Amino acid sequence: MASAPHGGRLVQVPQTTPDSPALAGFGESQRLMVTKETATTVANIANGVFSPLEGFMSEGDYLNVLEHMRLESDVPWTIPVLLPVPEDRTFSGGEEILLVDEGSRPVALMHCEGSFGISRQEYANKVFGTEDRAHPGAARALDGSSRAVCGRLKTVVRPDYGEYADHTLTPQETRVLFSEKGWDTVVAFQTRNAPHINHEYLQKSALALVDGLFINPVLGKKKAGDFKDQVILAGYKEILANYYPRASVVLSVLHYEMQYAGPKEAVMHAIMRKNFGCTHIIIGRDHAGVGSFYGPYAAQEIFKEFPDLGISPLFFREFYYCRRCAGIASEKTCPHKEEDRLNFSGTKLRKMFSEGETPPKEFMRPEVAQAILRFKQPFVE
Ligand code: ADX
Repeated sequence: MASAPHGGRLVQVPQTTPDSPALAGFGESQRLMVTKETATTVANIANGVFSPLEGFMSEGDYLNVLEHMRLESDVPWTIPVLLPVPEDRTFSGGEEILLVDEGSRPVALMHCEGSFGISRQEYANKVFGTEDRAHPGAARALDGSSRAVCGRLKTVVRPDYGEYADHTLTPQETRVLFSEKGWDTVVAFQTRNAPHINHEYLQKSALALVDGLFINPVLGKKKAGDFKDQVILAGYKEILANYYPRASVVLSVLHYEMQYAGPKEAVMHAIMRKNFGCTHIIIGRDHAGVGSFYGPYAAQEIFKEFPDLGISPLFFREFYYCRRCAGIASEKTCPHKEEDRLNFSGTKLRKMFSEGETPPKEFMRPEVAQAILRFKQPFVE
């Protein structure tokens, strides 16, 4: 049996087309321009990825999430989902707001329930644990607006995932698919990376314990130095075609802006995958981390605070290639010394690819490396 949706019900906001009469006739004061990332959040709310949210958070939910990592209804939730507005705009409860994209095309119709102030410093400290601008999430929070509007989405324009449409499944679709496959247990793999061998071992170790594997790479705005969206997908296509039992794996991308919030984001990652119907999620070393802002296993420890999460995390220690073991090993299973490990940092990898070199097969499958090398600039600049 798939996991029940978070909060009990899979949210489905009615969808429409951009030329719908329901979206016409809104004056300047009733229109709010949103970024591409906010439009993605709208689509995720509408598709149920963020169930039980039906819109953007109220002040009550916001403060409760910051203080207690739960919605006011006591449902676990660790990162606020806010609709920021320019500080000089005012919206009152009861009004209808038309959200439009940067090209003035309609995105959604929202029933406004009010607006409230946000302390950006408090946000950065409570969500990311830092005000250091070297942290990409904290920097964005500190530069963001200090006002948000809340409200329920009434109708959304059907999201257009462009070149990724064929690789984007909604929670409703994955739930049907998992059930058709007869999978009772499904483990999710969150990633923001092109696949390396350590990822493959994590996934396959987890798959050995359950019926199916749901590989769900995150596409969207990322920090400089991360792989570009197309590269991640190209890498996954290669590794799946060459090294995976296709009947046991589903690949679908998730349009979502990485926050790099480490432990708190790991819990959000689990909640989203629970909504897709997964029963388990892989949490490895430094999940959703950046630099050395979080302890390597902090994203595992936080799950102790959520016995009622409704999706089971599977924890793994670090995987690496060990020369003495002559294979991929894990901190938990390998007795050898640190010097015996093949250490491969992101910086080293970026340097190799930018010089047209192929990383060793002990680190990356050659087919994946070749797919990456076909891109002139595989990394976000
Ligand atoms: S993340 O931001 O999505 O966490 P990444 O794509 O690198 O980054 O990681 C995906 C998942 O694999 C996370 O659960 C992470 O903890 C785990 N992971 C990545 N590399 C390793 C590794 N060498 N050993 C153990 N776990 C790892």
